[in-house]
Amino acid sequence: MASSSSSSCSSSILLLMISAIVLSSVLAVVSASNFNQDFTITWGDGRAKILNNSQLLTLSLDKTSGSGFQSNNEYLFGKIDMQLKLVPGNSAGTVTAYYLSSQGSTHDEIDFEFLGNLSGDPYILHTNAKATESSNSTCGSTPLLISTLTPFSGTPNASCNFSVDGTPIREFKNAESVGVPYPKNQPMRIYSSLWNADNWATRGGLVKTDWTKAPFTASYRNFNANACIWSSGSSSCSSSSSSSSKNNAWISEQLDSTNQGRLKWVQKNYMIYNYCTDSKRFPQALPPECNMS
Ligand SMILES: *[C@@H]1O[C@H](CO)[C@@H](O)[C@H](O)[C@H]1NC(C)=O
Ligand SMILES: *[C@@H]1O[C@H](CO)[C@@H](O)[C@H](O)[C@H]1NC(C)=O
Ligand SMILES: *[C@@H]1O[C@H](CO)[C@@H](O)[C@H](O)[C@H]1NC(C)=O
Ligand SMILES: *[C@@H]1O[C@H](CO)[C@@H](O)[C@H](O)[C@H]1NC(C)=O
Ligand SMILES: *[C@@H]1O[C@H](CO)[C@@H](O)[C@H](O)[C@H]1NC(C)=O
Repeated sequence: MASSSSSSCSSSILLLMISAIVLSSVLAVVSASNFNQDFTITWGDGRAKILNNSQLLTLSLDKTSGSGFQSNNEYLFGKIDMQLKLVPGNSAGTVTAYYLSSQGSTHDEIDFEFLGNLSGDPYILHTNAKATESSNSTCGSTPLLISTLTPFSGTPNASCNFSVDGTPIREFKNAESVGVPYPKNQPMRIYSSLWNADNWATRGGLVKTDWTKAPFTASYRNFNANACIWSSGSSSCSSSSSSSSKNNAWISEQLDSTNQGRLKWVQKNYMIYNYCTDSKRFPQALPPECNMS
């Protein structure tokens, strides 16, 4: 399973372009998110900061280094929200990555990657899922955007949906029935980082980071996880006493017909690449999950 997982991972990329929909800024449930309690700054030598009474986290990037953080908890299934304010102005060459990942060489991964751009030009948002490394989608012609991201909303066996400001942008279906691994066994941490990728990120590397604009800063707030926390080999969701039905509402969450319509609309209008339609890349046959309805 591990080897088929990594091969289908690197073979599958989906590109989405989103420039308008992210602007309807949806406020996440105001929870007592506390970055000091929930996250640890992992690198950047002082460039990442927890501010405002632990309600705000900022990452910065300059010519010497970027920065990053990770969650203290590991999660296996759930709905995870974060508000992100991407690098404003000229963010060309920078990448803000926000993702879930388990550990080890056969780790699972579910990613959002925001590729910066010149002022006024749209970000591209890549979404990647390990068994199906996915997308690039453009996110926001406005550089000062705050998005609510829900990278991992999934029942154990069904699907996980990527959404931005409550709008689903991608559904990653469980295609185990056709032999495609699904990330359901390995608990994951949340990670985020801001780094320089001007060798590829903006117009394929043509536009370089303008270091006279450094430091570049991205910020985070209103973290909320309705998720099963994994600890010492067991899940918080298996002890029914500790989890109210309200907290587990995501388990039965379904995309209603309105949201299915919105997903189709985003993909029709903003998707710039979808590996499932790239028959040049897969001359023999498209990956099996592409043939699922
Ligand atoms: C930080 O806290 C101050 C004072 O409460 C507030 O005015 C400001 O909006 C906060 N900043 C952010 C980015 O939340
Ligand atoms: C998105 O992914 C495809 C496939 O790897 C790649 O060809 C394309 O250059 C990428 N687009 C951007 C803007 O990174
Ligand atoms: C998920 O699928 C496995 C078999 O693939 C099954 O044993 C398990 O009960 C399913 N779990 C749920 C929650 O449906
Ligand atoms: C940046 O803007 C240019 C021009 O609109 C566009 O071609 C490109 O896809 C945008 N995004 C990135 C990350 O290069
Ligand atoms: C994900 O989206 C699909 C429709 O595209 C829906 O059927 C499914 O229930 C959604 N899953 C979750 C957990 O929201």
